[in-house]
Amino acid sequence: MREEEVKRRMKELIKEIEYHNYRYYTLDDPVISDAQYDRLMRELEELEKKYPELAEPNSPTKRVGAPPLEVFGIVTHSIPMLSLSNAYSENEVIEFDERVKRLLSVNSLEYVAEPKMDGLAVELVYINGEFIQGSTRGDGFTGEDITQNLRTIKTIPLLLISDDKIKIPSRLEVRGEVYMTRDGFKRLNKEREEKGEPLFANPRNAAAGSLRQLDSKITAKRPLYIYCYGVGIVEGIEFSTHWEMLEAFKKWGLRVNELIRVCKNIEEVIAFYHELEKIRESLPYEIDGMVIKVNSIDFQKRLGEKARSPRWALAYKFKAHQETTTIKDIIVQVGRTGALTPVAIFEPVRVGGVEVKRATLHNQDEIEKKDIMIGDTVIIERAGDVIPEVVKVIKEKRDGTQRRFKMPDNCPICGSPVIRIKGEVVPRCINIACPAQIKGRIRHFGSRNAMDIEGLGVSLVEQLVDKKLVKDVADLYFLTLDQLVPLERMGEKSAKNLLESIEKSKKRELKRLIYALGIRHVGEHLSEIIAKKWKSIDQLFTVTEEELLETPEIGPEVASSIISFFKNETNKKVIERLKEAGVSMKEEEEEEKPAKLKGLIFLFTGALSNMTRSEAKERVEALGGSVASSVSKRVNYLVVGAEPGSKLEKAKELGITVIDEKEFLKMIS
Ligand code: IVH
Repeated sequence: MREEEVKRRMKELIKEIEYHNYRYYTLDDPVISDAQYDRLMRELEELEKKYPELAEPNSPTKRVGAPPLEVFGIVTHSIPMLSLSNAYSENEVIEFDERVKRLLSVNSLEYVAEPKMDGLAVELVYINGEFIQGSTRGDGFTGEDITQNLRTIKTIPLLLISDDKIKIPSRLEVRGEVYMTRDGFKRLNKEREEKGEPLFANPRNAAAGSLRQLDSKITAKRPLYIYCYGVGIVEGIEFSTHWEMLEAFKKWGLRVNELIRVCKNIEEVIAFYHELEKIRESLPYEIDGMVIKVNSIDFQKRLGEKARSPRWALAYKFKAHQETTTIKDIIVQVGRTGALTPVAIFEPVRVGGVEVKRATLHNQDEIEKKDIMIGDTVIIERAGDVIPEVVKVIKEKRDGTQRRFKMPDNCPICGSPVIRIKGEVVPRCINIACPAQIKGRIRHFGSRNAMDIEGLGVSLVEQLVDKKLVKDVADLYFLTLDQLVPLERMGEKSAKNLLESIEKSKKRELKRLIYALGIRHVGEHLSEIIAKKWKSIDQLFTVTEEELLETPEIGPEVASSIISFFKNETNKKVIERLKEAGVSMKEEEEEEKPAKLKGLIFLFTGALSNMTRSEAKERVEALGGSVASSVSKRVNYLVVGAEPGSKLEKAKELGITVIDEKEFLKMIS
């Protein structure tokens, strides 16, 4: 086949497959059989294998993920992604309606009411119908470039469907919420539990964690979906109402929540809110309220925005879920820093669809303030689907069998006397050999943002410490296959995998190691600051308090904590053994390099002589840049190879910087 023909066929296949993806995933109404679909996919895969240089970045074959990134690029939103003002009562909603009507000098006003999805806001950019970039909301002004990850979400079209009546805009920035279904979340957590990986607290966190993967192949395996509900810049088309815009979205193949409704007035909005509240728990995804939007775009423009939210929209939040239960017991947990925390054990109860068995009571002061006794009947609440809290005690239910709780004077785990440090609310066990602390320290050391040791889950750490195989974090590096295989839920394969991930962790960046050591008051952020200034652990052994205090963000408390950590003989020995095991103790020079091309967009035309298109793309992306597939104003550089195509002319018209392959090689070297 001639190149032109291959290209044409590829484009045809992509268009067709994308249409069937839309029928299957977005509409849930396929029009061809799985076998027919597979045939189309196979033909495309074969063509791409034979002509890799012609493969399109937006090919559906890319939905399984792309090569991992080193860092995410930064994307500046051309129009800031605002947040919403919240209302918690009907009164506030009525006030909103009155305010808006007053500002517009109208007597009646139409709204669109939408479920408020509990996920993550993203922006998708389509140029002439092609998906070219996707980003997180971030701080509203800039977000992270998660294009590769978003490409793996089947309900995100890679090509918009053209409709004869509604032309596809030359530029369309669509906003929406990526979320995980409840079922998908449960399945994912079950799998993670089996693998000993930390669990996600709720579907929202799971969606966020999945979208922020540098390896999009991981994202591809997660049950993520999107609902679109807004726009940034739109070029080439205007809408008169929000509803009309949503209708256009649907025609283009963008997924829109079927529950969204036009309401003639605020009373209809409120009635719909109560309906949503009723069906909330039966929905396959979590929602935390309703978003009310003025339907007329003209009115929206007239109303404009205040500080960080539009005047034309309001989030009407659902009340937190509350339930009544009794406190069977109050136990004391010991964390990695030795802090003792009282935890209430409840008669299990379902709150908003989730079974709740326990909740932290924080400390003795809290218990006294809320006047909580063992045996009390209490109201508990899960606000925003997070950690449950005891809201209050129903004192009328007391019958004399209730008992006061007192924090123990000895550690419930190791029996050492508990110390109350002046100025601190929490009592501590200061025996650093306390098994509870050891377990906590080891879990922290291996956690995702620390040394990231995959497979080192809670139950494994329990066993390792209880069986005295591990007494400190350095022991992890001296574990053997023979020691691991006999452990519960282990087996040869998992044991080998664990040893491999322990081995891999030896090369983590210095900032992760510092954080992993668990120095008090030194979290992720400070670890990074410390690693930037003192480029090795050895330097931290000799650092003085004055030097530390000269560093922005390091105060006296942190400084003295760092000094005493590195003075401590036990810690010295642990670090010596980590070194002996081959754990990297220095800042590796390469670490700072990526992101040289951060935020820059490249486009290629013609053949490169030193590498293929996809290699060039990989290089650009590894350095934080991105590659577009068509000419647009956003492109920073057009790289021209042999026999360039029509892109060159267009780029010149738009004033895009044109460079040759030699210059390009210099930029990426
Ligand atoms: S509209 C200017 N519509 O809520 C309007 N937001 O508090 C901005 N959200 O960041 C957003 N469902 O993550 C809108 N149907 C919906 C939504 C929704 C969920 C989230 C979104 C946004 C946050 C604002």
